[in-house]
Amino acid sequence: MEYKIGVIRGDGIGPEIVNEAVKVLDAVSSKFGFDLKYTDIDMGGCSIDKYGVPLTEEAVEAAKASDAVLMGSIGGDAKTSPWYKLEPSKRPEAGLLAIRKKLNLFANLRPSVLYPELKKACPLAEETADRGFDMIIVRELTGGLYFGERYTKTSKGLETAVDTLSYNEFEIRRAAIKAFEIAMKRDKKVTLVDKANVLDSSRLWRRITEKVAAGYPDVKYETMLVDNCAMQIVRDPAQFDVVLTENMFGDILSDEAAMITGSIGMLPSASLNDTKFGLYEPSGGSAPDIAGQNIANPIATILSSGMMLRYSLDQDKAADAINEAVKQVLKEGFRTGDIMSEGCSRVNTDEMGDLIADRAGK
Ligand code: IPM
Ligand code: MG
Repeated sequence: MEYKIGVIRGDGIGPEIVNEAVKVLDAVSSKFGFDLKYTDIDMGGCSIDKYGVPLTEEAVEAAKASDAVLMGSIGGDAKTSPWYKLEPSKRPEAGLLAIRKKLNLFANLRPSVLYPELKKACPLAEETADRGFDMIIVRELTGGLYFGERYTKTSKGLETAVDTLSYNEFEIRRAAIKAFEIAMKRDKKVTLVDKANVLDSSRLWRRITEKVAAGYPDVKYETMLVDNCAMQIVRDPAQFDVVLTENMFGDILSDEAAMITGSIGMLPSASLNDTKFGLYEPSGGSAPDIAGQNIANPIATILSSGMMLRYSLDQDKAADAINEAVKQVLKEGFRTGDIMSEGCSRVNTDEMGDLIADRAGK
């Protein structure tokens, strides 16, 4: 079996962390007997430098021709990088938003798990960290405020900016179905997070999701207002299994959920459409301040490659091997700087990749 993998190394720490994920993928593919054929795809700042735009048509076509895309990160330092002197639609982030839209990647899965070995890095109260948590945010990714009509106008000397938050029932239903399907394979609970006490779009999310929920009688379904959810994530994250929410709320809550695991460098993500195709990337950003120093944590990218094997390639055993290898290496006490604690051995980006590749390929 051979799969075509598009590889977006991107900017900042992206190339370094992707290299480690490729190392691990090579180890498991030879162990489990399948081949991965990689094609490099430019996106973000590196694409601006080469072609003047953050995403070319060729890049989109190359992604479409792949079974899945593995991505590092895009973007630079907004204060110093020349990319941020360009108009917003030409900046690195615009490439990411465009590829999400063009590939119809409407469901963004962001798991947030506290590894017992990393409890000390968890900023929550000790008894909360002791209880642990394992939740996944299903964030709608191609609608809402990110893609609604947007303009700035001046009328009678007063400048006004408008962003539009709009959802139709089709967009809500397909995201909700993904959330319930995922819940069926986990702890069978879905929490719809919205602002239904204020927003019409949230009230539509509630009506549609309630209908979808009726088709999954085994799944416990509840709703929660987003401000309360932001509070509950730091008070008692163990109450959540699958959190379903719209694009903007999901952007914010997923960073919060990432932070409480101790390091954003641990969290993978998957962006899926209605086929097997997906784009897989770490939840964290391009960290330009530490780029090129071989100190970034590659685990989120390595776990993203595991999600890719599971969701796009149906190579569940190889995906399990990656997850187990990560746990094993943490148990053995190896840490990159961001998750370092007393008594552990500090390793660099490439050493962490070597260790995980070794344990996963055995
Ligand atoms: C994310 C990022 C992006 C988003 C940015 C870079 C446009 O924050 O993937 O969460 O807001 O979706
Ligand atoms: Mg974000």
